[in-house]
Amino acid sequence: MAGIQQSMTQYVRDHSKLKYVFFGGKGGVGKTVMAGVTAMWFAQQGRKTILASTNPVHSLSGLLDQNVFGQPTAVNNVPNLWAYEIDTKDTIERSKVEIKNKIQWFLKFAEISTQADQFVESATMNPAFEESAMFENMVELMFKNEYEVYVFDTAPTANARRLLGMSKVYSLWVNKMLKSREEAKSLRELLSFTKKKEADPLMDYLVGFRDRMAHARDLLTDNQLTSFFFVTLPEALPIAVIKRFINWFHDFGIPVGGVVVNMVIQKDQVHAGSPEFVRNRVAMQDAYMKQIWEDFDGNVRALLPLLDDEIRGTQSLDKFVKHVFG
Ligand SMILES: Nc1ncnc2c1ncn2[C@@H]1O[C@H](COP(=O)(O)OP(=O)(O)OP(=O)(O)O)[C@@H](O)[C@H]1O
Ligand SMILES: [Mg+2]
Repeated sequence: MAGIQQSMTQYVRDHSKLKYVFFGGKGGVGKTVMAGVTAMWFAQQGRKTILASTNPVHSLSGLLDQNVFGQPTAVNNVPNLWAYEIDTKDTIERSKVEIKNKIQWFLKFAEISTQADQFVESATMNPAFEESAMFENMVELMFKNEYEVYVFDTAPTANARRLLGMSKVYSLWVNKMLKSREEAKSLRELLSFTKKKEADPLMDYLVGFRDRMAHARDLLTDNQLTSFFFVTLPEALPIAVIKRFINWFHDFGIPVGGVVVNMVIQKDQVHAGSPEFVRNRVAMQDAYMKQIWEDFDGNVRALLPLLDDEIRGTQSLDKFVKHVFG
């Protein structure tokens, strides 16, 4: 049946432990706006909330009209709300140094006399390296546990799915690595005269990484704590994109909170005498709305009007709150 069965407000009230909220969807559909509005709503409920972005191309400072780059920053005139654009470049540089140290240590351990540089280069030129850094940033913020609610702008959607999927396989692999390293180590200790325990930074790193991934997986697949919402427009491509995402997420057991339809033209503003362009767009949206009710039956949480202006600044966000959490 066409219609909202469980609104955004009902959903968050029914999930009173909700702590990690994500928005995904095609480019330009309103993910940043939705993250901003949702974070603001939680803050207005008295929950200590952070709106965070791990994307290297940030837009929170633009959305809030305030510089929130590089550190969690209290949002002006909105109690309980912090915003934070995480410096991905910095993390990448730090990770490079860390990796270099580990590779150097390992080469020395294995008594291989090669410069670490070329290994570091090939490890960090990998495009997935940046995505991993973003994911690690997000996880680090979550683990610090300094806020009651975390709203993430631009879910590293494909990445989250891949990394979470991988974490199972990864943990098997790390365990195997650990076993053979333990064996190698005890052999070395057996052969050495001193028999003193050696520090093993590579092993420590592997164990640490495995445990962090497992913990992240537990949090991100907990349907009381986590929800991924998907934003679409009543148009073919954004619908196709979120259908694909939702299927992936179901496969990985990542909780999907529902679908938000943005930029719906308000019918009460349109009549027979309206420009043909407007009437045609309304007809197009009507057709795709039918598809939305069929495809996302029971999971549509809000229909949001197309405003006659962009949404920028906390006042304008605040006005939009009532449309989302009406
Ligand atoms: N309902 C709406 N009415 C009018 N303008 C809107 C509406 N929703 C979003 N916008 C505007 O549309 C633009 C895109 O929104 P937003 O930046 O939130 O999209 P996004 O999905 O985060 O984009 P990107 O994929 O680039 O990160 C912004 O200028 C925003 O102010
Ligand atoms: Mg955005």
